[in-house]
Amino acid sequence: GIDHSTMGQAAPAVALPEGAPLPALVPLANRSREAGRFSGELVAAPVHKGLAEHGKPTEVWAYNGSLPGPLIEAYEGDTVEIAFTNRLPQPTTVHWHGLPVPADQDGNPAYPVLPGETRHYRFSLPSGSAGSYWYHPHPHGHTAEQVFRGLAGVFVVKSRRDPLAHLRDIPLVLSDLRLDADAAIPANTKADWMDGREGDYVLVNGALKPVLALGENERVRLRVYNATSARVLRLALPGFEVWRVGSDGGLIEAPRREAEVLLSPGERAELVITGAAKAGRLIALPYQRGKMMSAEVGETLVLATVAPGPRVASVPLPKRLRRIAALPAPKVKRRVVLEENMADPKAMFTINGKTFDMNRADFVGRVGEVEEWEVINRADMDHPFHLHGTQFQVAARHDGRGWKTEPYRAWRDVVSLPAGQAVKLRFRQDQPGMRMFHCHILEHEDQGMMGQIDVR
Ligand code: C2O
Ligand code: CU
Repeated sequence: GIDHSTMGQAAPAVALPEGAPLPALVPLANRSREAGRFSGELVAAPVHKGLAEHGKPTEVWAYNGSLPGPLIEAYEGDTVEIAFTNRLPQPTTVHWHGLPVPADQDGNPAYPVLPGETRHYRFSLPSGSAGSYWYHPHPHGHTAEQVFRGLAGVFVVKSRRDPLAHLRDIPLVLSDLRLDADAAIPANTKADWMDGREGDYVLVNGALKPVLALGENERVRLRVYNATSARVLRLALPGFEVWRVGSDGGLIEAPRREAEVLLSPGERAELVITGAAKAGRLIALPYQRGKMMSAEVGETLVLATVAPGPRVASVPLPKRLRRIAALPAPKVKRRVVLEENMADPKAMFTINGKTFDMNRADFVGRVGEVEEWEVINRADMDHPFHLHGTQFQVAARHDGRGWKTEPYRAWRDVVSLPAGQAVKLRFRQDQPGMRMFHCHILEHEDQGMMGQIDVR
């Protein structure tokens, strides 16, 4: 176990303005005139933003100066080219989280972009890949810092046959911010490195407790992103109908009415909500993400408010969204055990007893072969599990008492994995190369709670 006695939620050092209209994400311009091609430019650089109510501007690290990064919107079948320039004081990469891009285009730390360098990422979006992805840095050892200083953006892949195309589509990026008394973003503490960093505020599209105006009866599609380093968000919108319609990798088969939606770090959910004549609050309910952590217990966070707007005609929510075929029986089965050990400060968080080594393949797999991984969390805290290169289906979960099959099928690339529990994942990698898998608490990833499968 880990000593969590240093955990504590300090009061925010500075105040942030709150209650402004929900900021829309800035779209990334497509420089290509050709149909089927998206060509854009991203620059990661330090910029100063007036975040605190009174006080100095804050240095954040941002893509194209915007917080969160620009919204990339492309269609299934498109070829995507991103010219990326690193103006940060340290190496970085861009990882296209959840997208099935070639291994050498995926921001693997083996291909760092050094300060001052430009690299061209190029990949195409296969049919069936419509969904809510994101991009963020993935350099070795600096991912957490680069993300908590502001680097993360939304990448939406659209389908031309989208059963929800008639709904207003609203991405909500939930990110964590901590500011010191000078309104600067401080480095991680020892406790952050152990437990994963939580900030003083959870922002929505870069704003504190923004207001989303919704017409009465208006159905909207929310794409909710957990872009925090470490928080597990139990989302609820009391008094409103919430339908889950999608997961990380796009729509599920049919809408599901949910009282709350659990979102692990790195994970996304697509929800459909309907405006009412009354106001509402999008909240994160208390969640204990470690056996010994007490800080979050009992704390409910208000993330945003919903304000009623003029009445509109209501549109129906389709009963069927798409078909998701179950993956066939696996050819290969593997065990992946996540552990914590305090004895070795250089290897506190391990996968199958090891920490990440860029030059080591933990497994060798085959292109097109279905695998089933039993991922077991033997640690004292939650370690959300993420796999690169493909989407997986959760075949079953072990909650400590027994295996249970999932109530519905979904494509995911992050799965919540509470302490003491296990999951069975099934997937197929359709492209060759080294693919990473890791805990999506970014401080744990940086410390090497990560492995690689070499797909041949
Ligand atoms: Cu979102 Cu390997 O990361
Ligand atoms: Cu972890």
